[in-house]
Amino acid sequence: MKASVVAHRDYVISQIDPRIYGSFLEHLGRAIYTGIYEPDHATADENGMRKDVIELVKELKVPVVRYPGGNFVSAYNWEDGIGPKEDRPTRLDLAWHTSDSNQVGIHEFADWCDSVGTEMMLAVNLGSRGLDEARNFLEYVNHPGGSKWSDMRIANGRTEPFNTKLWCLGNEMDGPWQIGHKTADEYGRLAHETAKAMRAFDSSLELVVCGSSNAHMPTYPEWEATVLDHTYNEVDYISLHMYFENRAGNTANYLAQSVELDNYIGTVAGVIDYVKAKKRSKKQVYISFDEWNVWYHSKEKDKALLAGNHGWPHAPALLEDVYNFEDVLQVGLILNTFIRRSDVVRIACIAQLVNVIAPIMTAPNGAAWRQSTFYPYYFASVFGRGKALSLIVDSPTYDAPAAEKVPYLDVAGVHDEDEGIVTFFAVNRHETESVETDLSLVGFGKAEIIDHQVMTHPDLRAVNTEKNPDNVVPKKGSGASVDGDRVAVSLPPLSYQILRLKVR
Ligand code: AHR
Repeated sequence: MKASVVAHRDYVISQIDPRIYGSFLEHLGRAIYTGIYEPDHATADENGMRKDVIELVKELKVPVVRYPGGNFVSAYNWEDGIGPKEDRPTRLDLAWHTSDSNQVGIHEFADWCDSVGTEMMLAVNLGSRGLDEARNFLEYVNHPGGSKWSDMRIANGRTEPFNTKLWCLGNEMDGPWQIGHKTADEYGRLAHETAKAMRAFDSSLELVVCGSSNAHMPTYPEWEATVLDHTYNEVDYISLHMYFENRAGNTANYLAQSVELDNYIGTVAGVIDYVKAKKRSKKQVYISFDEWNVWYHSKEKDKALLAGNHGWPHAPALLEDVYNFEDVLQVGLILNTFIRRSDVVRIACIAQLVNVIAPIMTAPNGAAWRQSTFYPYYFASVFGRGKALSLIVDSPTYDAPAAEKVPYLDVAGVHDEDEGIVTFFAVNRHETESVETDLSLVGFGKAEIIDHQVMTHPDLRAVNTEKNPDNVVPKKGSGASVDGDRVAVSLPPLSYQILRLKVR
């Protein structure tokens, strides 16, 4: 099958905010304990953090990490995680039916962020707590000194403030499962007042208000309209979350779900514009897509633990999806969607980073390895920085229950002007046919291929494991050639690839 793509140097969607390649770490399962933190591990640093994991996170160039939850944050007392470690209490986590030793708290997490070179995105608890806790936490984290909470931080060993700019006002507050679940009006009022108090401390903070937990919630998208009606002038972002699954084993339908994602972003962007117009506001609120990933492989296995049948274990294996080759395609499609929607999506966080629905896995006392989905995330984060190009794509399409007119060829293009490089990220959704693609470059001058990486696999269910960590990996591509300003590239059936071109 044939497809064509036109990339014009001046047809730009937006300068990409690198934070669309963010991630998320929650006190859940083994994300923190035996994930990033394992003091007895052979590679542990002086803070008890696994250096093998730090190295893998650094490879991903993760710009921002959301913390400490997720559902966990809605009953979390941040004060439990400060002060001498031996004095910290073990608490029951009601969200995941586990217990938490609090050996990792804000100090340990901040030091870890420094080690991997990332920014913190902190969430406050608006479930079991509220405005007062939020303002105290903010003072502890960001005030230089001379006040109750900032002096406590200094006494706990950190003289300089952490200076965290990005804050989430709770998590998934529309979800009946959330501790302290609220109606849109209840949450909207609380979020407004909390944002007002936080801004009274520092007007330059960036604040994220909770949108719906997903586009299938009964209150979506009325929730967004009501919450923004309460908060529009106090917040900077509204959050979206979406998890993808292929329980039915229908690949074509699974790979059509990124079109649903695109529609979801479009709808919320419309609601933002509606409220903006209603308020006659000049301010623009953007989208923080701060939880996304494939999540379904582990759900059956986790049922008993989440039902409380195993008591309150500390750091059990939970949400440990083992990703296969098919999921590589899905993650590539999701990231392509964020690049194409980078005019409205300014932050996005793959949920999560280590062990819990994550691109990185660890064995306690053992190795750390890259899941199959590590690679599309790596390619987008490392090479997807610059200007998102508004490509003209002509591709045959198919219809699926999830969406209609789904193009077989999914492609995103990014122009890094400083380096003089254009990178294309492409997925062929077709199960049996290659896509022979004719790519025209307009206004870039002479192009030269500097890198071409392809991911294919004869087995859609192939995975990487501790014993076989390189089963699903990218390989150097061969089916691309340049002739002046035309590039011919062949995309094998069900494949993901990146093509990097040096341009003037
Ligand atoms: O990422 C796992 C969970 O998914 C988060 O805790 C919650 O916010 C969402 O429902």
